[in-house]
Amino acid sequence: MRNLAILLSGRGSNFEAIARNVASGQIRDARIAVVISNKPDAGGLETARLLGLTALAISSKGKEREQHDREVVAALREHKVDLICLAGYMRLLSPWFVQQFPQRILNIHPSLLPAFPGLEAQEQAFAYGVKIAGCTVHFVDEELDHGAIVIQKAVPVLDTDNEHSLAERILEQEHIAYSEAINLVLEEKFEVAGRRFVMKSTRH
Ligand code: GAR
Repeated sequence: MRNLAILLSGRGSNFEAIARNVASGQIRDARIAVVISNKPDAGGLETARLLGLTALAISSKGKEREQHDREVVAALREHKVDLICLAGYMRLLSPWFVQQFPQRILNIHPSLLPAFPGLEAQEQAFAYGVKIAGCTVHFVDEELDHGAIVIQKAVPVLDTDNEHSLAERILEQEHIAYSEAINLVLEEKFEVAGRRFVMKSTRH
């Protein structure tokens, strides 16, 4: 049984999808050991409490990045976490944090990276006029929205779309993609060659 941690800052719909898939066994052999938010009033924390999960608010307000990260990492260690899932965690991790958990931190981003990193990626894609948008689950490295890509899902942009309808359809795919990526990573049958996440060859 592997221990997952969820880090979030907001409503937590990706967290809820992960929690559902853990409960149903679609994410295999894993439990959510702890949910942590840097925002004490995050909706996702409340949901975690309602689900009976350990939910911690570790406020980042007025703290140096690394000081806050040290508090978060202490909580992750206390809960013996194997895989950390950033789910709408709107904070950059310090290089020190990233180095504590090599290939053990995932993030979801609502664009087909490397297009549209940063904030409001769906709006950026819509305004740019792309015909294919989507989402990416990737390992976290020291750069923003940058680590090796585990899974991407494409979402066509319709002529009738606005930013909101597009973001909603991307979110549906995020909820599917994140659990698939968690299973792939937990199975430990991958290797990262350069930037490429690939399944280990079974040929000898
Ligand atoms: C999601 O769309 C996620 O991809 C995005 O924040 C939203 C959180 O929603 N993350 C980023 O933009 C990270 N750069 P949720 O709280 O309902 O999961």
